[in-house]
Parts: sequence; C-alpha cells; structure tokens
Amino acid sequence: MSVRTFPLDPDGVDPDAVPKRRLYTGAQIPAVGLGTFGSDSVTATTVAEAVIGAARVGYRHFDCASVYRNEREIGCSLREILGSGLSREDLWVTSKLWNDKHGEQDVIPSCEKSLSDLQLEYLDLYLVHWPFPNHHPPGCDVHSRNPNARPYIHENYMRTWRQMEELVKRGLVRHIGTSNMTIPKLRLLLRDAEIKPAVNEMELHPHFQQPELFEYVVSQGMVPIGYSPIGSPGRPDRDRTLDDTVDVEDPVIVAIAGRLGVAPAVVCVKWAVQRGQLPIPFSVKRRNYLANLQSAVTDPLTEQEMSAIAGIDRNCRLIKGQVFLWKDGQNWTDLWDPDGEIVR
Ligand SMILES: NC(=O)c1ccc[n+]([C@@H]2O[C@H](COP(=O)([O-])OP(=O)(O)OC[C@H]3O[C@@H](n4cnc5c(N)ncnc54)[C@H](OP(=O)(O)O)[C@@H]3O)[C@@H](O)[C@H]2O)c1
Repeated sequence: MSVRTFPLDPDGVDPDAVPKRRLYTGAQIPAVGLGTFGSDSVTATTVAEAVIGAARVGYRHFDCASVYRNEREIGCSLREILGSGLSREDLWVTSKLWNDKHGEQDVIPSCEKSLSDLQLEYLDLYLVHWPFPNHHPPGCDVHSRNPNARPYIHENYMRTWRQMEELVKRGLVRHIGTSNMTIPKLRLLLRDAEIKPAVNEMELHPHFQQPELFEYVVSQGMVPIGYSPIGSPGRPDRDRTLDDTVDVEDPVIVAIAGRLGVAPAVVCVKWAVQRGQLPIPFSVKRRNYLANLQSAVTDPLTEQEMSAIAGIDRNCRLIKGQVFLWKDGQNWTDLWDPDGEIVR
C-alpha cells in the first residue's frame, strides 16, 4: 500500500519548522495561520484557491468564520488537501459563531453548518466572534444600526457559552474561545466558565499592541490570536477613518524591512510571532503568503528592533465595530469598555 504525502512546494516552509503555541489543553497550534476574510474585494473562490496554495507552501492553520461567506468553497479546498495525503490531525481549522446565532438553540446548528460547509468532522477551535448578539448584514454601512441591538449582557453570553461547552462535550470542537473581548468581560467569563476559553482573538498590529489586554490574556493561560496583523491595508473604505494610521508606512517598520529585504507587511508578521501572539495574516497572493510564513522561521529581529517596534504603538484600533452599538449618541469606544467597566 502506498502512503501518499501532501506535496510541499520546493520553496515552501517545512510545517514542522513553523513554531507552535501550546494551549492549556496541551494541544499545539501553528504560530501563523492564514486569514480567510476576503472583505468586499476578494471572491470566495479566490480565497479557497489561496487555501490550497497556502497548504502547498506549508500553512497548516486556517482562520475561518461563517460570516466570511466562503466556508463552502474553503471546504472543497480542505477536502482536496485532506484527499492528497494530509491527515486531519495535521491541520488546524478555526471557525466562529456569528452574532445572530447566540441564541441557545442556534449555537449547535451553526457549528454543524460550518462543519458541513468545511467538510470536517470536528473543528480545532470555535470562537464566539463578537460578545454582542447584534446582527448586521455583511457589507452594511458603518452608520447602520440594528434596532434590537443590546449591550453585553453576561447572563446571555453565558447561555451561549454553555452551548459552546456542549460542542466540546459532543466532540464537535476541540477548543472554544473568544474574540473581541475586553478584560472586564473576560473576567466574568473566566469566573463562570466550566470549560475555559483557550484563546482570545483580538486586533493586534504594531500600531495597536493592546499591551494590557495582551498581558491579561497570557496571564490567564490563554493564547492571544492577532487579527489584522498587517493593519488590514485591504479593508473596505467603510472601515476607514481619517485618524487611522498605516503600519506598513511606519519608518521603523520600513527600515527593518529594508535591512531584511522583505516587504513591511512581513516585518509586522515576524514581530507578532516573536512577541508571542499568533498572527493570522490574510493574503491571496502566493508571494505574500509565502513570505509571511517564511518570516516565522528566519533569524529573529534584534532586541533593538523589538524595542523600536514596541515604541511605535499608536493605540490605533482599525476594526472599531460601530455597527454593534446599541443606543443613539454612543461612541464606538463604548464597545471596548475604555474605563475597565462593562459599558451598558
Ligand atoms: N475575529 C475577528 O473579529 C476578526 C476581525 C478581522 C479579521 N479577522 C481575521 O484576521 C485575518 C487577517 O486580518 P485582515 O484580513 O483584516 O488584515 P491583514 O492580514 O492585516 O491584511 C491583509 C492585507 O494585507 C495584504 N498582504 C498580506 N501579506 C502581504 C505581504 N507579505 N506584502 C504585502 N501585502 C500583504 C493582503 O493583500 P494581498 O492579498 O494582495 O496579499 C491584504 O490586503 C482575516 O482574514 C480574518 O481571518 C478576524
């Protein structure tokens, strides 16, 4: 009987050489994942093709979500990858529960739908995408509001979380976690959870380092997964404001990129891995997603470079979440509990 091995491109990165982070369960997760949110500009098919290309250059970790509206296409890619010599245990696949599915009766069917679309028997990680049950249609304007929008209500979140725990008990998911949480919300969840969150997925890039939340997440035995690690240069116009800064144009990042002979984006990914968060850069261009993964296996940044990047934090949140606000006259910062208390 011949044992097929999944073909790694000659210039690809040996997946065994990619650093791993250990979750509190002992499971190991590859320290760089491929983001799969194509925003408005990249089709589901193109993202699904990138998933196959990324697997060929050594990616084993894919960050998916039902709201990205491409899990069916990605499922075909995963089937192809798993049919060509990789076993399920070789891959790490994350998906996320969307905001309109927080109801107790909706959590398990939503996960089952993602599993069916992704053509998998289990997920490695399932996240509550946002702590607010406030649905908005994908692609809507930042000024759009849901009249039924609510603030964070811990009792309700715990009802959702109990169903997340049930998914683990049924073997449909191996780990559960949170996304877009703040310290006061996480404190309550960690107090009341039977199965603790293994990760918190949060916005993290050189201009938005969130040191306090980062330290808190790590101190609680969770792994910080960093989204928009390059500063999301391809995000839609509706997610841009005049105050936003651009990580890949920062002179510190540009100078390090020059020394290394790589794109500034690659420096952002490299810094993230070295700092200890787990970046999930999105790209559909082979040259770019390969360079992003290579950054995890090349010589580390110097101490001076790490401290120079620590010094360029601008506290510039890009994914502000305005559409989840629940009453008139609010500012988006209310979603992020700026005074350390849950805003209601
Ligand atoms: N949990 C959440 O609420 C949440 C929120 C936002 C995002 N996410 C996840 O995080 C992932 C990444 O975030 P993101 O997509 O917002 O932004 P990002 O990864 O910071 O930036 C992606 C952009 O950078 C470009 N890029 C990537 N590598 C590059 C390179 N080496 N050189 C030059 N350009 C490069 C890509 O373009 P090309 O395709 O042209 O390379 C794309 O336009 C998402 O896809 C999603 O999976 C999660």
